[in-house]
Amino acid sequence: MTVPFSEVFLQELAERNDIVDVVGGYVRLTKRSGANLFGLCPFHSEKTPSFSVSPDKQIYHCFGCGKGGSVISFIMEIENLSFPDAVAFLARRAGMPLPEQEDNGESRRRERLLALNRDAARFFHEQLRAPGGQAARDYLARRQLSGRTVTRFGLGFAPDSWDSLTRAMKAGGYSERELFDAGLVRRGKSSGVYDTFRNRLMFPVIDVRGHVIGFSGRILGDGEPKYMNSPETAVFSKSHNLFALNLAKKSKSGYLILVEGNVDVASLHQAGFDCAVASLGTSLTPEQARLLSRYTSEIVIAYDNDGAGQKAAQRAIGILEKLDLRVRVLALEGAKDPDEYLKTFGADAFRNLLDRSENHIEYRLKTVQNQYDLTVDEQKVAFLKEAAGVIAQLPGEVEREVYAMRVASTTGVPEQVVQDEVARQRKQRLRRAQREETRAQLRPAYKAQKAAGGVRYENPRSAAAEEGIIRLLYYDPGLFSGREIDAARFSSPELGRLYAALAARKGGPVNLAALSEALTPAEISLLTSIIERSSDVSNGEKELDDYIRILRTEGCLNRGAPDLLALANQLKEQKGYGGKDGHE
Ligand code: UTP
Ligand code: MN
Repeated sequence: MTVPFSEVFLQELAERNDIVDVVGGYVRLTKRSGANLFGLCPFHSEKTPSFSVSPDKQIYHCFGCGKGGSVISFIMEIENLSFPDAVAFLARRAGMPLPEQEDNGESRRRERLLALNRDAARFFHEQLRAPGGQAARDYLARRQLSGRTVTRFGLGFAPDSWDSLTRAMKAGGYSERELFDAGLVRRGKSSGVYDTFRNRLMFPVIDVRGHVIGFSGRILGDGEPKYMNSPETAVFSKSHNLFALNLAKKSKSGYLILVEGNVDVASLHQAGFDCAVASLGTSLTPEQARLLSRYTSEIVIAYDNDGAGQKAAQRAIGILEKLDLRVRVLALEGAKDPDEYLKTFGADAFRNLLDRSENHIEYRLKTVQNQYDLTVDEQKVAFLKEAAGVIAQLPGEVEREVYAMRVASTTGVPEQVVQDEVARQRKQRLRRAQREETRAQLRPAYKAQKAAGGVRYENPRSAAAEEGIIRLLYYDPGLFSGREIDAARFSSPELGRLYAALAARKGGPVNLAALSEALTPAEISLLTSIIERSSDVSNGEKELDDYIRILRTEGCLNRGAPDLLALANQLKEQKGYGGKDGHE
Protein backbone atom coordinates (compact mmCIF):
# COMPACT_ATOMS: atom_id res chain seq x y z
CA MET A 1 0.00 0.00 0.00
CA THR A 2 1.19 3.47 -0.76
CA VAL A 3 1.55 5.77 2.18
CA PRO A 4 1.48 9.37 1.04
CA PHE A 5 4.33 11.61 2.06
CA SER A 6 3.34 14.00 4.82
CA GLU A 7 2.66 17.55 3.85
CA VAL A 8 5.30 18.79 6.27
CA PHE A 9 7.87 16.64 4.57
CA LEU A 10 6.89 17.73 1.05
CA GLN A 11 6.94 21.34 2.09
CA GLU A 12 10.41 21.00 3.52
CA LEU A 13 11.52 19.12 0.43
CA ALA A 14 10.32 21.97 -1.78
CA GLU A 15 12.00 24.53 0.43
CA ARG A 16 15.31 22.75 0.31
CA ASN A 17 15.15 22.36 -3.47
CA ASP A 18 14.86 25.88 -4.74
CA ILE A 19 13.16 25.74 -8.11
CA VAL A 20 15.60 28.16 -9.68
CA ASP A 21 18.55 25.93 -8.76
CA VAL A 22 16.86 22.73 -9.80
CA VAL A 23 15.52 24.00 -13.12
CA GLY A 24 18.81 25.84 -13.68
CA GLY A 25 20.50 22.44 -13.87
CA TYR A 26 18.57 21.70 -17.05
CA VAL A 27 17.68 25.06 -18.56
CA ARG A 28 19.79 28.15 -19.02
CA LEU A 29 17.75 30.80 -17.23
CA THR A 30 18.18 34.50 -17.73
CA LYS A 31 16.62 37.42 -16.02
CA ARG A 32 14.46 39.72 -18.04
CA SER A 33 12.39 42.47 -16.59
CA GLY A 34 10.17 41.59 -13.68
CA ALA A 35 10.59 38.91 -11.08
CA ASN A 36 10.61 35.86 -13.34
CA LEU A 37 13.48 34.09 -15.04
CA PHE A 38 13.16 32.87 -18.59
CA GLY A 39 14.70 30.12 -20.68
CA LEU A 40 14.06 27.79 -23.60
CA CYS A 41 11.37 25.31 -22.68
CA PRO A 42 12.78 21.81 -22.17
CA PHE A 43 9.41 20.25 -22.96
CA HIS A 44 8.83 21.57 -26.44
CA SER A 45 11.10 23.00 -29.08
CA GLU A 46 11.31 26.72 -29.47
CA LYS A 47 13.82 29.36 -30.51
CA THR A 48 12.80 32.17 -28.21
CA PRO A 49 12.32 31.57 -24.49
CA SER A 50 8.75 31.26 -23.25
CA PHE A 51 9.53 29.06 -20.27
CA SER A 52 9.33 31.05 -17.06
CA VAL A 53 10.37 30.29 -13.52
CA SER A 54 9.07 32.28 -10.59
CA PRO A 55 11.40 32.34 -7.59
CA ASP A 56 8.67 33.86 -5.40
CA LYS A 57 5.96 31.40 -6.25
CA GLN A 58 8.39 28.52 -6.72
CA ILE A 59 6.66 27.44 -9.89
CA TYR A 60 7.53 27.09 -13.55
CA HIS A 61 5.23 27.68 -16.45
CA CYS A 62 5.65 27.58 -20.21
CA PHE A 63 3.58 30.06 -22.18
CA GLY A 64 4.19 28.03 -25.29
CA CYS A 65 3.17 24.49 -24.40
CA GLY A 66 1.24 25.17 -21.23
CA LYS A 67 3.24 22.85 -19.01
CA GLY A 68 3.85 23.98 -15.49
CA GLY A 69 4.03 23.03 -11.86
CA SER A 70 6.19 22.74 -8.80
CA VAL A 71 9.75 21.57 -8.46
CA ILE A 72 8.42 18.04 -8.01
CA SER A 73 6.37 18.08 -11.20
CA PHE A 74 9.39 19.46 -13.02
CA ILE A 75 11.54 16.52 -11.94
CA MET A 76 8.75 14.03 -12.71
CA GLU A 77 8.48 15.42 -16.21
CA ILE A 78 12.10 15.93 -17.12
CA GLU A 79 13.49 12.81 -15.49
CA ASN A 80 10.50 10.74 -16.46
CA LEU A 81 9.91 9.63 -12.87
CA SER A 82 6.84 8.70 -10.86
CA PHE A 83 5.84 10.94 -7.98
CA PRO A 84 7.57 8.85 -5.27
CA ASP A 85 10.70 8.52 -7.41
CA ALA A 86 10.81 12.26 -8.03
CA VAL A 87 10.46 12.86 -4.31
CA ALA A 88 13.30 10.42 -3.64
CA PHE A 89 15.39 12.15 -6.31
CA LEU A 90 14.93 15.56 -4.72
CA ALA A 91 15.44 14.23 -1.22
CA ARG A 92 18.77 12.81 -2.30
CA ARG A 93 19.66 16.08 -3.98
CA ALA A 94 18.99 18.00 -0.77
CA GLY A 95 20.56 15.37 1.45
CA MET A 96 17.30 14.70 3.25
CA PRO A 97 16.47 11.24 4.53
CA LEU A 98 13.21 9.84 3.20
CA PRO A 99 10.58 9.32 5.86
CA GLU A 100 9.89 5.71 6.77
CA GLN A 101 7.65 4.54 4.01
CA GLU A 102 5.53 1.51 4.24
CA ASP A 103 6.63 -0.45 1.26
CA ASN A 104 5.10 0.80 -1.86
CA GLY A 105 3.91 -2.06 -4.07
CA GLU A 106 4.93 -0.54 -7.34
CA SER A 107 8.42 0.41 -6.31
CA ARG A 108 8.95 -3.01 -4.78
CA ARG A 109 7.93 -4.66 -8.04
CA ARG A 110 10.33 -2.44 -9.93
CA GLU A 111 13.11 -3.35 -7.58
CA ARG A 112 12.36 -7.04 -8.09
CA LEU A 113 12.51 -6.59 -11.85
CA LEU A 114 15.84 -4.80 -11.61
CA ALA A 115 17.22 -7.55 -9.38
CA LEU A 116 15.95 -10.17 -11.81
CA ASN A 117 17.59 -8.39 -14.74
CA ARG A 118 20.85 -8.16 -12.85
CA ASP A 119 20.74 -11.86 -12.00
CA ALA A 120 19.88 -12.73 -15.59
CA ALA A 121 22.84 -10.67 -16.80
CA ARG A 122 25.08 -12.60 -14.39
CA PHE A 123 23.68 -15.86 -15.64
CA PHE A 124 24.29 -14.94 -19.28
CA HIS A 125 27.76 -13.74 -18.43
CA GLU A 126 28.62 -17.04 -16.72
CA GLN A 127 27.31 -19.00 -19.68
CA LEU A 128 29.87 -17.30 -21.86
CA ARG A 129 32.61 -19.05 -19.88
CA ALA A 130 30.74 -22.36 -19.55
CA PRO A 131 31.45 -25.31 -21.88
CA GLY A 132 28.21 -24.61 -23.79
CA GLY A 133 29.45 -21.11 -24.64
CA GLN A 134 32.02 -22.22 -27.21
CA ALA A 135 30.05 -20.94 -30.20
CA ALA A 136 29.69 -17.51 -28.59
CA ARG A 137 33.39 -17.39 -27.71
CA ASP A 138 34.21 -18.26 -31.31
CA TYR A 139 31.93 -15.51 -32.52
CA LEU A 140 33.55 -12.96 -30.21
CA ALA A 141 36.96 -14.00 -31.49
CA ARG A 142 35.78 -13.58 -35.06
CA ARG A 143 34.54 -10.07 -34.25
CA GLN A 144 37.84 -9.42 -32.45
CA LEU A 145 36.15 -8.48 -29.20
CA SER A 146 38.52 -9.04 -26.27
CA GLY A 147 37.99 -10.50 -22.83
CA ARG A 148 38.38 -7.04 -21.36
CA THR A 149 35.60 -5.75 -23.59
CA VAL A 150 33.39 -8.66 -22.53
CA THR A 151 33.96 -7.71 -18.91
CA ARG A 152 33.55 -3.99 -19.48
CA PHE A 153 30.14 -4.40 -21.09
CA GLY A 154 29.14 -7.47 -19.08
CA LEU A 155 28.50 -9.33 -22.32
CA GLY A 156 26.94 -12.75 -22.07
CA PHE A 157 25.55 -15.73 -23.88
CA ALA A 158 21.99 -16.99 -23.88
CA PRO A 159 22.31 -20.79 -24.33
CA ASP A 160 20.66 -22.61 -27.19
CA SER A 161 17.86 -23.92 -24.98
CA TRP A 162 14.20 -23.20 -24.32
CA ASP A 163 14.40 -22.97 -20.57
CA SER A 164 17.91 -22.61 -19.19
CA LEU A 165 17.36 -19.04 -18.02
CA THR A 166 13.87 -19.86 -16.74
CA ARG A 167 15.20 -22.76 -14.66
CA ALA A 168 18.10 -20.76 -13.25
CA MET A 169 15.94 -17.78 -12.30
CA LYS A 170 13.21 -19.93 -10.78
CA ALA A 171 15.87 -21.60 -8.68
CA GLY A 172 16.85 -18.09 -7.63
CA GLY A 173 13.36 -17.45 -6.31
CA TYR A 174 11.76 -15.54 -9.20
CA SER A 175 8.30 -16.37 -10.45
CA GLU A 176 7.22 -17.04 -14.01
CA ARG A 177 5.16 -13.91 -13.76
CA GLU A 178 8.21 -11.83 -12.91
CA LEU A 179 10.20 -13.37 -15.75
CA PHE A 180 7.36 -12.50 -18.07
CA ASP A 181 7.08 -8.95 -16.77
CA ALA A 182 10.81 -8.52 -17.38
CA GLY A 183 10.41 -9.72 -20.97
CA LEU A 184 12.82 -12.58 -20.35
CA VAL A 185 10.30 -15.29 -21.22
CA ARG A 186 7.39 -15.58 -23.59
CA ARG A 187 4.19 -17.50 -23.19
CA GLY A 188 3.93 -20.69 -25.25
CA LYS A 189 0.97 -21.67 -27.42
CA SER A 190 -0.48 -24.18 -24.98
CA SER A 191 0.87 -23.46 -21.54
CA GLY A 192 4.08 -22.55 -19.82
CA VAL A 193 6.79 -20.17 -20.90
CA TYR A 194 10.02 -20.32 -22.86
CA ASP A 195 13.19 -18.21 -22.84
CA THR A 196 12.99 -15.11 -25.04
CA PHE A 197 16.70 -15.05 -25.78
CA ARG A 198 18.21 -18.26 -27.15
CA ASN A 199 21.60 -18.86 -28.71
CA ARG A 200 22.46 -15.17 -28.77
CA LEU A 201 25.29 -12.89 -27.74
CA MET A 202 23.81 -10.80 -24.97
CA PHE A 203 24.35 -7.06 -24.49
CA PRO A 204 22.88 -5.90 -21.18
CA VAL A 205 21.43 -2.41 -21.36
CA ILE A 206 22.47 -0.52 -18.25
CA ASP A 207 21.02 2.85 -17.32
CA VAL A 208 23.00 5.82 -16.00
CA ARG A 209 22.35 4.72 -12.45
CA GLY A 210 23.93 1.35 -13.11
CA HIS A 211 20.76 -0.75 -13.23
CA VAL A 212 20.42 -3.51 -15.80
CA ILE A 213 17.13 -2.52 -17.39
CA GLY A 214 16.99 -4.77 -20.45
CA PHE A 215 18.87 -6.75 -23.06
CA SER A 216 19.83 -6.75 -26.68
CA GLY A 217 20.68 -10.16 -28.09
CA ARG A 218 22.61 -10.60 -31.34
CA ILE A 219 22.45 -13.76 -33.37
CA LEU A 220 25.82 -15.54 -33.67
CA GLY A 221 26.54 -14.93 -37.31
CA ASP A 222 23.99 -14.44 -40.05
CA GLY A 223 20.26 -14.93 -39.68
CA GLU A 224 17.05 -13.21 -38.83
CA PRO A 225 16.19 -11.41 -36.73
CA LYS A 226 19.72 -10.13 -36.25
CA TYR A 227 18.85 -8.59 -32.89
CA MET A 228 16.19 -9.29 -30.34
CA ASN A 229 15.53 -6.66 -27.72
CA SER A 230 13.72 -6.66 -24.43
CA PRO A 231 10.17 -5.39 -24.87
CA GLU A 232 9.05 -2.24 -23.10
CA THR A 233 8.73 -3.13 -19.44
CA ALA A 234 8.15 -1.29 -16.18
CA VAL A 235 11.88 -0.59 -16.07
CA PHE A 236 12.85 -0.47 -19.75
CA SER A 237 11.98 2.00 -22.44
CA LYS A 238 14.08 1.94 -25.59
CA SER A 239 13.29 5.50 -26.53
CA HIS A 240 14.49 6.84 -23.19
CA ASN A 241 17.84 5.09 -22.94
CA LEU A 242 21.09 4.68 -24.83
CA PHE A 243 23.37 1.70 -24.93
CA ALA A 244 26.64 2.27 -23.00
CA LEU A 245 25.77 5.74 -21.70
CA ASN A 246 26.53 4.33 -18.23
CA LEU A 247 30.16 3.98 -19.37
CA ALA A 248 30.42 6.89 -21.79
CA LYS A 249 29.16 9.39 -19.26
CA LYS A 250 32.44 8.92 -17.36
CA SER A 251 34.59 9.62 -20.41
CA LYS A 252 36.97 12.55 -20.28
CA SER A 253 36.78 13.32 -23.99
CA GLY A 254 34.28 16.15 -23.65
CA TYR A 255 31.95 14.86 -26.35
CA LEU A 256 29.93 11.74 -27.04
CA ILE A 257 30.09 9.64 -30.19
CA LEU A 258 26.69 8.47 -31.36
CA VAL A 259 26.66 5.30 -33.47
CA GLU A 260 24.02 2.88 -34.68
CA GLY A 261 25.22 -0.52 -33.56
CA ASN A 262 26.01 -2.15 -30.24
CA VAL A 263 28.96 -3.84 -31.90
CA ASP A 264 30.22 -0.46 -33.09
CA VAL A 265 30.08 0.79 -29.52
CA ALA A 266 32.01 -2.23 -28.23
CA SER A 267 34.69 -1.89 -30.92
CA LEU A 268 35.08 1.82 -30.33
CA HIS A 269 35.49 1.43 -26.58
CA GLN A 270 37.98 -1.37 -27.15
CA ALA A 271 39.98 0.93 -29.45
CA GLY A 272 40.09 3.62 -26.76
CA PHE A 273 37.08 5.71 -27.75
CA ASP A 274 35.29 5.36 -24.44
CA CYS A 275 32.62 7.92 -25.20
CA ALA A 276 30.61 5.94 -27.78
CA VAL A 277 26.91 5.25 -27.29
CA ALA A 278 24.14 3.76 -29.45
CA SER A 279 20.46 4.50 -29.56
CA LEU A 280 19.19 0.93 -29.12
CA GLY A 281 18.08 0.40 -32.67
CA THR A 282 15.62 3.26 -32.78
CA SER A 283 16.42 6.42 -34.64
CA LEU A 284 17.42 9.01 -32.08
CA THR A 285 14.43 10.20 -30.06
CA PRO A 286 14.03 13.63 -28.43
CA GLU A 287 14.11 11.92 -25.02
CA GLN A 288 17.42 10.27 -25.82
CA ALA A 289 18.78 13.59 -27.05
CA ARG A 290 17.75 15.26 -23.83
CA LEU A 291 19.45 12.52 -21.86
CA LEU A 292 22.64 13.02 -23.89
CA SER A 293 22.51 16.76 -23.32
CA ARG A 294 22.84 16.15 -19.60
CA TYR A 295 26.29 14.69 -20.09
CA THR A 296 27.78 16.67 -22.92
CA SER A 297 27.37 19.72 -25.10
CA GLU A 298 28.90 18.13 -28.17
CA ILE A 299 27.87 15.07 -30.15
CA VAL A 300 29.79 13.40 -32.94
CA ILE A 301 27.51 11.36 -35.15
CA ALA A 302 29.10 8.29 -36.71
CA TYR A 303 26.21 6.48 -38.29
CA ASP A 304 26.48 3.80 -40.94
CA ASN A 305 27.75 4.86 -44.30
CA ASP A 306 24.61 4.00 -46.24
CA GLY A 307 21.43 5.76 -47.28
CA ALA A 308 19.54 4.80 -44.15
CA GLY A 309 22.40 5.92 -41.94
CA GLN A 310 22.70 9.27 -43.64
CA LYS A 311 18.99 9.89 -43.40
CA ALA A 312 19.03 8.95 -39.73
CA ALA A 313 21.96 11.34 -39.23
CA GLN A 314 19.99 14.22 -40.75
CA ARG A 315 17.10 13.51 -38.45
CA ALA A 316 19.37 13.25 -35.42
CA ILE A 317 21.00 16.58 -36.27
CA GLY A 318 17.62 18.26 -36.26
CA ILE A 319 16.76 16.84 -32.87
CA LEU A 320 20.13 17.60 -31.27
CA GLU A 321 20.23 21.10 -32.67
CA LYS A 322 17.05 21.99 -30.86
CA LEU A 323 18.79 21.30 -27.59
CA ASP A 324 21.64 23.66 -28.38
CA LEU A 325 24.10 20.81 -28.73
CA ARG A 326 27.13 21.20 -30.94
CA VAL A 327 26.96 18.51 -33.60
CA ARG A 328 29.66 17.10 -35.82
CA VAL A 329 29.32 14.33 -38.35
CA LEU A 330 31.94 11.76 -39.32
CA ALA A 331 32.22 10.69 -42.92
CA LEU A 332 33.28 7.06 -42.77
CA GLU A 333 34.70 6.72 -46.22
CA GLY A 334 35.69 3.24 -47.27
CA ALA A 335 33.79 1.38 -44.56
CA LYS A 336 30.16 0.63 -43.82
CA ASP A 337 30.27 1.40 -40.10
CA PRO A 338 32.67 2.44 -37.33
CA ASP A 339 33.47 -1.19 -36.49
CA GLU A 340 34.55 -1.95 -40.04
CA TYR A 341 36.39 1.37 -40.23
CA LEU A 342 38.47 0.48 -37.18
CA LYS A 343 39.21 -3.00 -38.53
CA THR A 344 40.19 -1.68 -41.94
CA PHE A 345 42.06 1.52 -41.15
CA GLY A 346 42.89 1.30 -37.43
CA ALA A 347 42.32 3.47 -34.38
CA ASP A 348 44.74 6.21 -35.48
CA ALA A 349 42.83 6.73 -38.68
CA PHE A 350 39.61 7.01 -36.72
CA ARG A 351 41.22 9.50 -34.35
CA ASN A 352 42.28 11.47 -37.40
CA LEU A 353 38.77 11.42 -38.71
CA LEU A 354 37.48 12.71 -35.39
CA ASP A 355 40.00 15.52 -35.35
CA ARG A 356 39.05 16.83 -38.72
CA SER A 357 35.38 15.92 -38.59
CA GLU A 358 33.09 18.50 -39.96
CA ASN A 359 30.68 20.43 -37.91
CA HIS A 360 27.14 19.78 -38.93
CA ILE A 361 26.78 22.94 -40.97
CA GLU A 362 29.52 21.90 -43.34
CA TYR A 363 27.98 18.48 -43.48
CA ARG A 364 24.54 19.83 -44.22
CA LEU A 365 25.79 22.24 -46.82
CA LYS A 366 27.55 19.39 -48.54
CA THR A 367 24.43 17.25 -48.45
CA VAL A 368 22.41 20.09 -49.95
CA GLN A 369 25.07 20.68 -52.56
CA ASN A 370 25.00 17.04 -53.62
CA GLN A 371 21.36 17.45 -54.65
CA TYR A 372 22.12 20.09 -57.23
CA ASP A 373 24.09 20.37 -60.40
CA LEU A 374 25.87 23.67 -59.97
CA THR A 375 26.71 23.97 -63.66
CA VAL A 376 23.04 24.56 -64.38
CA ASP A 377 21.97 28.11 -63.54
CA GLU A 378 18.50 27.38 -62.15
CA GLN A 379 19.90 24.66 -59.96
CA LYS A 380 22.60 26.98 -58.75
CA VAL A 381 19.96 29.50 -57.67
CA ALA A 382 17.95 26.78 -55.93
CA PHE A 383 21.08 25.60 -54.13
CA LEU A 384 21.87 29.14 -53.07
CA LYS A 385 18.42 29.59 -51.55
CA GLU A 386 18.52 26.33 -49.67
CA ALA A 387 22.08 26.85 -48.47
CA ALA A 388 21.22 30.35 -47.28
CA GLY A 389 18.38 28.78 -45.31
CA VAL A 390 20.81 26.49 -43.53
CA ILE A 391 23.20 29.35 -42.79
CA ALA A 392 20.41 31.62 -41.59
CA GLN A 393 19.81 29.24 -38.70
CA LEU A 394 23.28 29.81 -37.26
CA PRO A 395 23.18 31.92 -34.12
CA GLY A 396 26.66 33.50 -34.55
CA GLU A 397 27.22 36.35 -36.95
CA VAL A 398 30.82 35.45 -37.65
CA GLU A 399 29.83 31.88 -38.38
CA ARG A 400 27.16 33.07 -40.80
CA GLU A 401 29.69 35.20 -42.60
CA VAL A 402 32.23 32.41 -42.88
CA TYR A 403 29.76 29.96 -44.40
CA ALA A 404 28.22 32.54 -46.68
CA MET A 405 31.73 33.16 -47.98
CA ARG A 406 32.21 29.48 -48.58
CA VAL A 407 28.96 29.15 -50.50
CA ALA A 408 29.91 32.19 -52.53
CA SER A 409 33.16 30.59 -53.57
CA THR A 410 31.62 27.19 -54.45
CA THR A 411 28.97 28.84 -56.63
CA GLY A 412 31.04 31.72 -57.98
CA VAL A 413 28.28 34.11 -56.89
CA PRO A 414 29.41 37.41 -55.34
CA GLU A 415 29.71 37.24 -51.59
CA GLN A 416 27.33 40.13 -51.03
CA VAL A 417 24.54 38.32 -52.87
CA VAL A 418 24.83 35.29 -50.60
CA GLN A 419 25.00 37.47 -47.51
CA ASP A 420 21.90 39.39 -48.54
CA GLU A 421 19.96 36.20 -49.10
CA VAL A 422 21.03 34.89 -45.70
CA ALA A 423 20.01 38.16 -44.06
CA ARG A 424 16.64 38.09 -45.81
CA GLN A 425 15.87 34.54 -44.73
CA ARG A 426 17.06 35.25 -41.22
CA LYS A 427 14.75 38.20 -40.89
CA GLN A 428 11.91 36.05 -42.10
CA ARG A 429 12.68 33.38 -39.52
CA LEU A 430 12.91 35.87 -36.69
CA ARG A 431 9.66 37.53 -37.65
CA ARG A 432 7.93 34.18 -37.74
CA ALA A 433 9.33 33.22 -34.34
CA GLN A 434 8.29 36.54 -32.86
CA ARG A 435 4.78 36.23 -34.17
CA GLU A 436 4.44 32.80 -32.63
CA GLU A 437 5.83 34.09 -29.39
CA THR A 438 3.45 37.01 -29.16
CA ARG A 439 0.56 34.77 -29.94
CA ALA A 440 1.60 32.40 -27.18
CA GLN A 441 2.02 35.22 -24.67
CA LEU A 442 -1.38 36.71 -25.37
CA ARG A 443 -3.17 33.46 -25.05
CA PRO A 444 -5.16 33.23 -21.84
CA ALA A 445 -4.52 30.23 -19.66
CA TYR A 446 -7.42 28.22 -20.91
CA LYS A 447 -6.44 28.70 -24.52
CA ALA A 448 -2.83 27.73 -23.79
CA GLN A 449 -4.18 24.58 -22.23
CA LYS A 450 -6.22 23.92 -25.28
CA ALA A 451 -3.15 24.30 -27.45
CA ALA A 452 -1.31 21.88 -25.21
CA GLY A 453 -4.03 19.34 -25.77
CA GLY A 454 -5.56 19.89 -22.36
CA VAL A 455 -8.82 21.35 -21.24
CA ARG A 456 -11.63 22.65 -23.38
CA TYR A 457 -13.97 24.97 -21.57
CA GLU A 458 -17.62 24.81 -22.45
CA ASN A 459 -18.51 28.09 -20.87
CA PRO A 460 -15.57 30.50 -20.97
CA ARG A 461 -17.27 33.17 -18.90
CA SER A 462 -18.03 30.82 -16.07
CA ALA A 463 -14.65 29.17 -16.44
CA ALA A 464 -12.92 32.53 -16.02
CA ALA A 465 -14.76 33.02 -12.73
CA GLU A 466 -13.95 29.47 -11.69
CA GLU A 467 -10.28 30.09 -12.40
CA GLY A 468 -10.51 33.25 -10.31
CA ILE A 469 -12.02 31.32 -7.41
CA ILE A 470 -9.24 28.77 -7.57
CA ARG A 471 -6.60 31.48 -7.63
CA LEU A 472 -8.06 33.11 -4.52
CA LEU A 473 -8.41 29.80 -2.74
CA TYR A 474 -4.78 29.04 -3.48
CA TYR A 475 -3.39 32.30 -2.18
CA ASP A 476 -5.86 33.12 0.56
CA PRO A 477 -7.91 30.18 1.81
CA GLY A 478 -9.07 32.35 4.71
CA LEU A 479 -11.36 34.25 2.33
CA PHE A 480 -13.49 31.17 2.03
CA SER A 481 -14.35 30.60 5.67
CA GLY A 482 -18.10 30.64 6.03
CA ARG A 483 -18.59 30.52 2.29
CA GLU A 484 -19.56 27.24 0.79
CA ILE A 485 -19.11 26.73 -2.90
CA ASP A 486 -20.30 23.53 -4.44
CA ALA A 487 -17.72 22.16 -6.86
CA ALA A 488 -20.55 20.55 -8.81
CA ARG A 489 -21.61 24.02 -9.79
CA PHE A 490 -18.44 24.53 -11.80
CA SER A 491 -19.04 24.44 -15.53
CA SER A 492 -15.66 22.84 -16.14
CA PRO A 493 -15.12 19.43 -14.57
CA GLU A 494 -11.36 20.03 -14.62
CA LEU A 495 -11.68 23.23 -12.63
CA GLY A 496 -14.19 21.57 -10.35
CA ARG A 497 -11.63 18.90 -9.52
CA LEU A 498 -8.96 21.52 -8.84
CA TYR A 499 -11.32 23.37 -6.58
CA ALA A 500 -12.26 20.21 -4.70
CA ALA A 501 -8.60 19.23 -4.25
CA LEU A 502 -7.73 22.66 -2.86
CA ALA A 503 -10.84 22.90 -0.70
CA ALA A 504 -10.25 19.44 0.76
CA ARG A 505 -7.14 20.78 2.45
CA LYS A 506 -7.82 22.39 5.79
CA GLY A 507 -6.17 25.70 6.62
CA GLY A 508 -2.60 26.87 6.11
CA PRO A 509 -1.06 28.10 2.89
CA VAL A 510 -1.36 25.66 0.04
CA ASN A 511 1.86 24.25 -1.29
CA LEU A 512 1.87 23.23 -4.91
CA ALA A 513 4.54 20.62 -4.29
CA ALA A 514 2.29 18.95 -1.75
CA LEU A 515 -0.50 18.80 -4.30
CA SER A 516 1.63 17.11 -6.93
CA GLU A 517 0.51 13.72 -5.76
CA ALA A 518 -3.22 14.26 -5.66
CA LEU A 519 -3.41 15.87 -9.10
CA THR A 520 -2.42 14.66 -12.54
CA PRO A 521 0.36 16.47 -14.45
CA ALA A 522 -2.27 18.08 -16.68
CA GLU A 523 -4.19 19.33 -13.65
CA ILE A 524 -0.98 20.65 -12.10
CA SER A 525 -0.20 22.48 -15.33
CA LEU A 526 -3.65 23.99 -15.39
CA LEU A 527 -3.40 25.04 -11.76
CA THR A 528 0.01 26.55 -12.40
CA SER A 529 -1.22 28.58 -15.31
CA ILE A 530 -3.93 29.95 -13.05
CA ILE A 531 -1.78 30.85 -10.07
CA GLU A 532 0.98 32.09 -12.32
CA ARG A 533 -0.94 35.14 -13.41
CA SER A 534 -1.05 36.98 -10.13
CA SER A 535 -0.76 36.39 -6.43
CA ASP A 536 -2.46 39.66 -5.60
CA VAL A 537 -5.40 39.06 -3.27
CA SER A 538 -5.71 42.60 -1.89
CA ASN A 539 -9.14 42.88 -3.43
CA GLY A 540 -10.06 39.30 -2.67
CA GLU A 541 -13.40 39.78 -0.92
CA LYS A 542 -14.92 41.73 -3.74
CA GLU A 543 -13.41 39.54 -6.43
CA LEU A 544 -14.78 36.44 -4.77
CA ASP A 545 -18.27 37.99 -4.57
CA ASP A 546 -18.13 38.78 -8.27
CA TYR A 547 -16.97 35.31 -9.19
CA ILE A 548 -19.66 33.66 -7.13
CA ARG A 549 -22.27 35.84 -8.81
CA ILE A 550 -21.02 34.83 -12.24
CA LEU A 551 -20.99 31.23 -11.20
CA ARG A 552 -24.63 31.52 -10.13
CA THR A 553 -25.72 32.85 -13.47
CA GLU A 554 -23.37 30.92 -15.70
CA GLY A 555 -22.52 27.78 -13.76
CA CYS A 556 -24.17 24.42 -13.98
CA LEU A 557 -26.93 24.62 -11.40
CA ASN A 558 -28.81 27.48 -12.91
CA ARG A 559 -29.05 25.98 -16.30
CA GLY A 560 -32.68 25.25 -15.58
CA ALA A 561 -33.66 28.65 -16.95
CA PRO A 562 -35.37 28.21 -20.32
CA ASP A 563 -32.65 29.51 -22.53
CA LEU A 564 -33.21 28.07 -25.97
CA LEU A 565 -29.80 28.96 -27.26
CA ALA A 566 -28.10 27.31 -24.30
CA LEU A 567 -30.27 24.25 -24.75
CA ALA A 568 -29.41 24.00 -28.38
CA ASN A 569 -25.75 24.32 -27.56
CA GLN A 570 -26.07 21.72 -24.89
CA LEU A 571 -27.53 19.27 -27.35
CA LYS A 572 -24.79 19.99 -29.82
CA GLU A 573 -22.18 19.51 -27.14
CA GLN A 574 -23.62 16.27 -25.94
CA LYS A 575 -22.90 14.79 -29.30
CA GLY A 576 -19.28 15.76 -29.43
CA TYR A 577 -18.40 15.77 -25.80
CA GLY A 578 -19.26 12.81 -23.64
CA GLY A 579 -18.43 12.80 -19.95
CA LYS A 580 -19.47 16.31 -19.01
CA ASP A 581 -20.82 17.00 -15.56
CA GLY A 582 -24.09 18.64 -14.84
CA HIS A 583 -26.61 16.67 -16.81
CA GLU A 584 -28.45 15.29 -13.83
P1 UTP B 1 23.22 -3.13 -37.09
O1 UTP B 1 22.58 -4.11 -38.00
O2 UTP B 1 24.11 -2.11 -37.68
O3 UTP B 1 23.96 -3.96 -35.92
O4 UTP B 1 22.05 -2.45 -36.30
P2 UTP B 1 25.43 -3.90 -35.29
O5 UTP B 1 25.28 -3.90 -33.82
O6 UTP B 1 26.23 -2.82 -35.88
O7 UTP B 1 26.00 -5.32 -35.67
P3 UTP B 1 27.00 -5.72 -36.85
O8 UTP B 1 28.24 -4.91 -36.70
O9 UTP B 1 26.29 -5.47 -38.13
O10 UTP B 1 27.22 -7.15 -36.58
C1 UTP B 1 22.27 -1.37 -35.45
C2 UTP B 1 21.47 -1.54 -34.19
O11 UTP B 1 20.10 -1.63 -34.49
C3 UTP B 1 19.45 -2.52 -33.62
C4 UTP B 1 20.51 -3.02 -32.64
O12 UTP B 1 20.50 -2.23 -31.49
C5 UTP B 1 21.79 -2.81 -33.42
O13 UTP B 1 22.91 -2.69 -32.58
N1 UTP B 1 18.82 -3.63 -34.35
C6 UTP B 1 19.34 -4.11 -35.52
C7 UTP B 1 17.69 -4.20 -33.84
O14 UTP B 1 17.20 -3.78 -32.79
N2 UTP B 1 17.09 -5.24 -34.49
C8 UTP B 1 17.61 -5.75 -35.64
O15 UTP B 1 17.06 -6.74 -36.19
C9 UTP B 1 18.75 -5.15 -36.17
MN1 MN C 1 26.28 -1.91 -37.73
